[in-house]
Formats: sequence, C-alpha cells, structure tokens
Amino acid sequence: MRYLVTGGAGFIGSNFIAYLLENDLSAEIINFDILTYAGNLENLKDIERKYSDRYSFVQGDIRNQAIVEEVFEKHSPDVVINFAAESHVDRSITNPNIFVETNVLGTATLLNVAKKFWQKSNYEGKRFLQVSTDEVYGTLPEDKPEEKFTELTPLQPHSPYSASKGAADMLVQAYFDTFDFPALLTRCSNNYGPYQFPEKLIPLMINNANNNEPLPVYGDGRNIRDWLYVDDHCDAIYTVVNKGKLGEVYNIGGNNEIKNIDIVKNILNYLGKSESLIKYVTDRPGHDRRYAIDARKIKTELGWEPKYKFEQQIKFTIQWYLDNTEWLGRILSGEYRKYYEQNYKNR
Ligand code: NAD
Ligand code: DAU
Repeated sequence: MRYLVTGGAGFIGSNFIAYLLENDLSAEIINFDILTYAGNLENLKDIERKYSDRYSFVQGDIRNQAIVEEVFEKHSPDVVINFAAESHVDRSITNPNIFVETNVLGTATLLNVAKKFWQKSNYEGKRFLQVSTDEVYGTLPEDKPEEKFTELTPLQPHSPYSASKGAADMLVQAYFDTFDFPALLTRCSNNYGPYQFPEKLIPLMINNANNNEPLPVYGDGRNIRDWLYVDDHCDAIYTVVNKGKLGEVYNIGGNNEIKNIDIVKNILNYLGKSESLIKYVTDRPGHDRRYAIDARKIKTELGWEPKYKFEQQIKFTIQWYLDNTEWLGRILSGEYRKYYEQNYKNR
C-alpha cells in the first residue's frame, strides 16, 4: 500500500507516520507538507533514518494542483490521508482567510487530483481519508452530560477554523455522493502527546509553568474538552482506512471529558509549581463550551477503542516536553514568539 500523507510534518501527521511505518511493514509513505510554522521535519528525523526505504518527503502545497499532480504521477498513491490544515482556533480568529484557502481550497484540490488519477481504474483499491474534527459539530451544554456528538449531529461550527473544516467535510461527502469517490471521514476530539506545537493548551501550559511564567486560562476555565492520546487517534485512523465503509463518517474520542482548569492544575501539580501562576484572561470569542464524542459507531462497527489511559499518558506527555526542551526551544525562538506576543499581550 502506498500512502500519501499530507501535513505529515505536523503534530498528528508525524505521529501517524511513525505509527504506520512501525505497525504496517507493507506501508510506503510519501509525506507531502508545505512546512508552515507548524510543520517541523525534526519530528521525523529518527523515522527518516530508520525507514528510508519506505519513507520519502516532498515539500509542497495542497492548494497547488500542478505539484499535487506531479506527486500522483510519480508515486501513484493508493491511499490519501489528509492531515494538512491550518489547525489553531485562535489564529483563525486573527486571520481567517488562510483557513479557507488551506482547509477548503486545499482539500478541493486534493479531491480533484485524486479523482482525476483514480477514476481511470474505477477507484479500485483506492481510499481518501479526510481527517476532521469534533469542532464541526459546535458546542454542547455542560448541564446535560448525557448529550454527546454523534455522526448524525448537524454541523454547527462557531470559529473560522471549524467552519473551514466543516466546509471541507461537506465537499468530501459531496464527492462520494456525486462521483462515487472512495471517501471516508473521521472526526476526532482534542489530541495530546509529543510534538504538539506549543500554541495549544497542554504544551503551552507545560512550557509556561516550567519557566515560571503566567498560565493564561481563557474565561472561567470551565470549558470542557474530550482528550485522546495521539497514538489512539493514529490507530483509529488506520482502522478506518482499512476497515471503514466508504462514504461514512466515524467519530473518534476517548470518553474523557476534562475542564481546562483541571488540566492546568494537573500540570502544575506534576511540576510541583504553585497555582498562583494561573492567570484568568479574556475569553476566546465564540469559545465552544463543551465537546464530547459518542464513539459507539467506530467501536461496534470497526472494533476500535482507545488503549491509553489519560492519567498515565498525561504524565508521559508532560515529561516528554521536559525532556525535549531543545526541540521546544528551537520552535519558541522563531515564528511562535511573534504569535504569542500578538495573541496574549492585550488579554
Ligand atoms: P498541525 O497544525 O500540527 O499540522 C498541520 C500540518 O499541515 C503542518 O505540518 C503544516 O505544515 C501542514 N500544512 C499546512 N498547510 C499546508 C498546505 N497548504 N499544504 C501542505 N501542508 C500544509 O495540525 P495537527 O494538530 O497535527 O492536526 C492535523 C489534522 O488533524 C488537521 O486537519 C486538524 O484539523 C485535525 N484534527 C486535529 C486535532 C487536534 O487535537 N490537534 C483533533 C482533531 C482533528
Ligand atoms: O477538538 C479538536 C480540536 O482541538 C482540533 O480540531 C484543533 O485543531 C485543536 O487545536 C483543538 O482545538 P481547541 O480549541 O479545543 O484546542 P486549544 O488547545 O487551542 O484549546 C483547548 C482549550 O483550552 C480551549 O477551551 C481553549 C483553552 N485555552 C487554550 C489556550 C491556547 C486556554 O484557556 N488558554 C490558552 O492559552
């Protein structure tokens, strides 16, 4: 099987490439990534060395039809897994356009090229998996814990990020309905683990706490996310690509709802730091209150369920960032610092 993994230098993409090379010896991977501020080939340096016969990297833009066609021409992928995206909600509030360009137009370009190359063989043995997010469903009330997102929950995104992901999801589904295009969609909850860019809640808080800097908690800190360890997400994607029914959506989640403030306190506790570092700051506009995934479909139909426990993996993850301060330092010295000042200076 030849996999074209887009966005493979990002957080989940790089974890997925490592997972796939280690778990499926027949998998060959082309990592196609433009390397935005969030793309970091350092995430893959060991993998690149170890699996040079089955792994290659091409720098390119999913919005550029000519380059994507070149990749299809040269590598004839059987499977496309589209991780490539602008992924940070706060950035989508300050600069929505790039989210539309990458997440919507980029996905449209990938669909067009895959259709063009694959329809010659009637899509035999081909699969396109769009990696989407639970954020497309909008938000849930915190006083109705029994309510969760199912695959039938209507899309009601609230941020430019989730709106762009929802638009891309609809395009993918339209390609299945209109062209019998072999599409699959996954919608996962919040991931945590190694190599996450330190603009996201968990690595940002670990880094600030470690440096005795204020921990900026948005609003009242009681927003709820449903946390899943990144390897569980990778395993679920692999399951859907290999066993999923074409045209279907699969929700992925860890059944693990936690308030932001409790995550922050957990980190401070692990590091032995004082809660006085917590600083409540102006809320994120349009901030979704609660996410919770109903993952019964992927469990009953495909037999997938998470393997990792939050209590253990959060400790492993915090320790990973402490042990990889050089990786973190190289990121923090660049583009990220400018963004941090812009996002937090007036809060
Ligand atoms: P990330 O921001 O860490 O990585 C995104 C990657 O996409 C980067 O390597 C970047 O260089 C690349 N990219 C961006 N624009 C591109 C373009 N035009 N052409 C080629 N490559 C481009 O994101 P992530 O957190 O790893 O998320 C990956 C995917 O999973 C996204 O589609 C996101 O919506 C989805 N998702 C993320 C989470 C989460 O908790 N992080 C949860 C559910 C779904
Ligand atoms: O649910 C899946 C989504 O999870 C993915 O689709 C997105 O790509 C990913 O970024 C993530 O979105 P969130 O907005 O939930 O993640 P983030 O880490 O930005 O924020 C998590 C929560 O923490 C959210 O309620 C906002 C809050 N927060 C975040 C930051 C960065 C703070 O309180 N302070 C902060 O500084």
